[in-house]
Amino acid sequence: MSKSLNLFLPAIGGTALMLGGAYGFTSRDYAEQKIESLEIQVEQSTSTAADAVANSRAAEAEIERLAAERDELQVIAAAGGGLTQPAPVAETVYGLGREALPEEIAAWDVDVLPDGRGLPVGSGDVWTGEELFVEQCAACHGDFAEGSGNWPVLAGGFGTLSDEDPVKTIGSYWPYLSTSWDYINRSMPFGNAGTLSADETYAIVAYILYSNDLIDDDFVLSDENFMDVELPNADGFVLDDRADTEYTVWRTEPCMTDCKDGVEITMHASVVDVTPETEGDAQASMTEHAAGTDAAAEGAEGAIDPALIEAGQGAFRQCSSCHEVGENASNRTGPELNGLLGRTIGSVDGFRYSNVMRDAGEAGDTWTAEALEAFLTDPRGTMSGTKMAFRGVRNPEDIAAIIAYIQSVGTE
Ligand code: HEC
Ligand code: HEC
Repeated sequence: MSKSLNLFLPAIGGTALMLGGAYGFTSRDYAEQKIESLEIQVEQSTSTAADAVANSRAAEAEIERLAAERDELQVIAAAGGGLTQPAPVAETVYGLGREALPEEIAAWDVDVLPDGRGLPVGSGDVWTGEELFVEQCAACHGDFAEGSGNWPVLAGGFGTLSDEDPVKTIGSYWPYLSTSWDYINRSMPFGNAGTLSADETYAIVAYILYSNDLIDDDFVLSDENFMDVELPNADGFVLDDRADTEYTVWRTEPCMTDCKDGVEITMHASVVDVTPETEGDAQASMTEHAAGTDAAAEGAEGAIDPALIEAGQGAFRQCSSCHEVGENASNRTGPELNGLLGRTIGSVDGFRYSNVMRDAGEAGDTWTAEALEAFLTDPRGTMSGTKMAFRGVRNPEDIAAIIAYIQSVGTE
């Protein structure tokens, strides 16, 4: 196997230099502004110290901290800036908590950035890495980082990125080696994260590079030569500039003329039965809301129990494939059911009833609670010859609830 050396590109490519320059520029501007504002804060803090003897110690510590930060920024600015900027400093001192100890910060501050910042001093060679890898990683990632079962593959996959099913590995996909150092050190071995020493991590990363055929077997990876390793896909990532380049092309002004005058509710979701039945979810709160409004409207005649209405809404699903109720309800397989209680049987305009229903209506019969209970319990038994092809409501308790629901939404 030939191990290619072309990854040890002398320092950085031209693009990277340009980028570096750009970052340096912005960062220097930023740092200068920052220095100015920090200097103001130092001054303010100085006068505070003079005023309040009791507070003077805290203020002095603050001055020191701000000054230290200013110095640090000056160093960064002088060095041409970096990829990330320090977190903004609070304008006020709240007097809460205490300064984190340097050791505490160090314990958290483990990230390694693409420019190499954060890499601890250390080194590791391929063979040490292989041993560690076989011991601690191979069970899931395979002896040669080729992956095992469904666990992630860490090596190979070159030339597959444009395939339908690309194999994305550290070798084929990841742009920066720092990400693998950081990730492995922080989160692997899976289930035992944070146990690897710096040297062990260097060795394992070296072994993974070797498995990806990117270095020779005598290679020793260290904080010193880390930045010399450039991954094959380093240029495969671009900054997302779609906001400038694309959106303007395909995004047009929305049409805001000749709009419809008003919005009208043509159907309730519960009636068309689009909402699957689930307990205690958003639908319940919608029902609660609706029930509340209706109960208020009902007030004069005596409010219907909202819980009954809610139960009725659920039970009405048995009917909603054929019947609509509520504002704008229309006839479907069965007639609309608005204002049902007290309505003359078989009397909805434009609906072709069976003889038995039409006759009952012509005889002046109306839908009372009792009549409905009997009919809904056993439609064909009660009205022999009805066109309502429905076996009847199985659970007798549902009938009162359905009637309550029809009453609550179907008042006309
Ligand atoms: C018990 C199984 C297991 C062991 C052991 C294990 N890993 Fe992993 N590894 C995983 C799983 C699962 C993921 C995916 C985690 C995720 O996506 O959140 C993963 C992800 C990774 C990735 C990122 C892969 C990618 O392309 O996203 C790397 C790199 C990695 N492991 C390296 C190691 C190294 C090095 C060791 C040994 C020190 C190790 N793993 C040990 C299960 C394991
Ligand atoms: C498979 C369709 C279907 C289902 C399901 C159905 N119905 Fe009907 N319903 C009809 C038809 C058709 C009629 C007209 C019957 C006739 O003309 O004989 C009707 C008539 C009615 C009437 C008489 C209306 C009037 O104007 O006099 C009521 C009340 C009624 N159904 C209530 C319900 C209730 C409540 C449910 C649910 C528990 C239900 N129906 C389920 C089809 C259905």
